[in-house]
Amino acid sequence: CGIVGYIGKRDSQDILIEGLKKLEYRGYDSAGIAVFTKNGLEVRKSIGRLANLEEKLGGQPLEGSVGIGHTRWATHGKPSDVNSHPHTDNSHKFSVVHNGIIENYLDLKDELIAKGAQFVSETDTEVISHLIAEEYDGDIVKAVQRAVKRMRGAYALGVLTEFEPDRLVAVRNASPLVIGVGEGENFIGSDIPAILEHTRDVYILNDGEMAILTKNAVELMTIEGNFISKEIFRVDWDLVTAEKAGFDHFMLKEIYEQPKAYRDTMMGRISDDGRSVVLKEIGMTADQIRGIRKIQIVACGTAMHAGLVGKTVIESLARIPVETDVASEYRYRSPIITPDTLVIVVSQSGETADTLAALREAKRCGARVMAITNVVGSSVAREADDVIITQAGPEIAVASTKAYTSQLIAFYLFGLFLADTLGTRDADAIAEVVAAMNELPEKVERILEKAPVLKQLAESLAKHNNLFFIGRGVDFAVVQEGSLKLKEISYIHSEAYAAGELKHGTLALIEEGIPVVSLITQEDLYEKTLSNIKEVKARGAHVLGVVNEGLEGEVGKSVDELFAIPKTLPVLAPALSVVPLQLIAYYASLARGNDVDKPRNLAKSVTVE
Ligand code: G6P
Repeated sequence: CGIVGYIGKRDSQDILIEGLKKLEYRGYDSAGIAVFTKNGLEVRKSIGRLANLEEKLGGQPLEGSVGIGHTRWATHGKPSDVNSHPHTDNSHKFSVVHNGIIENYLDLKDELIAKGAQFVSETDTEVISHLIAEEYDGDIVKAVQRAVKRMRGAYALGVLTEFEPDRLVAVRNASPLVIGVGEGENFIGSDIPAILEHTRDVYILNDGEMAILTKNAVELMTIEGNFISKEIFRVDWDLVTAEKAGFDHFMLKEIYEQPKAYRDTMMGRISDDGRSVVLKEIGMTADQIRGIRKIQIVACGTAMHAGLVGKTVIESLARIPVETDVASEYRYRSPIITPDTLVIVVSQSGETADTLAALREAKRCGARVMAITNVVGSSVAREADDVIITQAGPEIAVASTKAYTSQLIAFYLFGLFLADTLGTRDADAIAEVVAAMNELPEKVERILEKAPVLKQLAESLAKHNNLFFIGRGVDFAVVQEGSLKLKEISYIHSEAYAAGELKHGTLALIEEGIPVVSLITQEDLYEKTLSNIKEVKARGAHVLGVVNEGLEGEVGKSVDELFAIPKTLPVLAPALSVVPLQLIAYYASLARGNDVDKPRNLAKSVTVE
């Protein structure tokens, strides 16, 4: 989502709308603004692109020099006028824009309802406006401080109250927020592009910090109420760089957002003691789950590759047989779909025509359909019986990265949820996987720190026109994604092979100097893969081994180059091992001078069959 806020001497409406336009890449399913007018705090909001909101405002502009605005990427509650921000309390005296996820919003909502609050939306944000109203006793700063102490989760907030029209309050925890400093005017923005047109002087808030803006001053303090001072950060980027938060491409930015996407997708879905998974969004009863005889995972492209990992995850954790299908094939192969089949469709956009058609076919045959998607309110999300939303945030680059890895996290959560219900894993075993999942974000960060090494490796791979990826077990699923990523954006032809299958044909293609990327994370299989590496080496291949830390010694003797990744439980390895392959694809594309974010012939979302 995107936030912008203004307090000053100019009319705020245009400043807010222009700011939101710069943030549309952060989400665009609905938008809204709140402005102090001569009638008090007035709100206008609209589903769809910003143009819809502009149209609404065209007839009835909001005149006033203090306001907040928001462009939404739905996380709780489908895109609609009422679910758009700003949200207000029942008295309409308080107005809030919010980015992030409030984990305990359902509990807070129950409390507030018991005290008489009436809710009009399905969002977690509306809870915040009611909370602040409840805590208010004449000082908006104190009210916000008390309210955020009751909230758990991630938030960047902009808050206005009609009782104090000369103050704009901003506060952050785990969601970005910057304060722009002007002359006789000040700004807030979830991102620098929102305010860059007006000022280059910004304060960057840290977690637990807040800012109180008036026309002529910005006060900074902690949420405990202690004043702090900060250096002004002078932005020297242009707007295009700023939209990408300083990264050269959206793809690279999205690769680096993966640790956050993992945390956000897990947030609120693990019990406090870490011994079970809580998926409130799954409506299936325990009996229905026990009745599942077979699971079919259906998807396209990268989402289908997540499904290949999903198959291993569910089969190993919950011991239910799983088939993974390409959506464009599924419908026409007269699949055996029975009422005791659970069909899982996976789609970043939730709009892919092939996937949607498969979903409808499955429902027509009486199966229950669960969706894993990144877009709340998408067609797939609306039509499925149960939906797990991946909290990756908007993905702009055509080549999917953080959406894929968030889909893996969703599969881990669902696999554990099934295992718990079916009793295939006890609480200790579940706690072990959960603890290892909690370590994944930090382990991804360790891989990202070694990006320069991958850049060098990718630059030498980029000199070739053909290469191979090999792996066994779940590594085979991951190399299929690594190979696709490389093909999509570098246009280098590559093939992903099950390492043991090479000798049954593809070995004929191995010749002097051909690069082979070999993924080895499954330690029980590494000796077998080493034999396959020897087969290609004997025919002149140049082998890059991507291996678990600890295996470098063993594997190092047999390969030409080595890249080590942190070790985790075997079933979780894909959430780490795909990251170097994404970076290799990115840097190979860069080395070839391609348009990384918009590869030729491909579209982000394909809504034709
Ligand atoms: C398109 C994109 C792929 C994507 C596939 C499925 O072909 O180019 O990157 O994996 O669609 O998209 P979905 O939105 O359903 O995950």
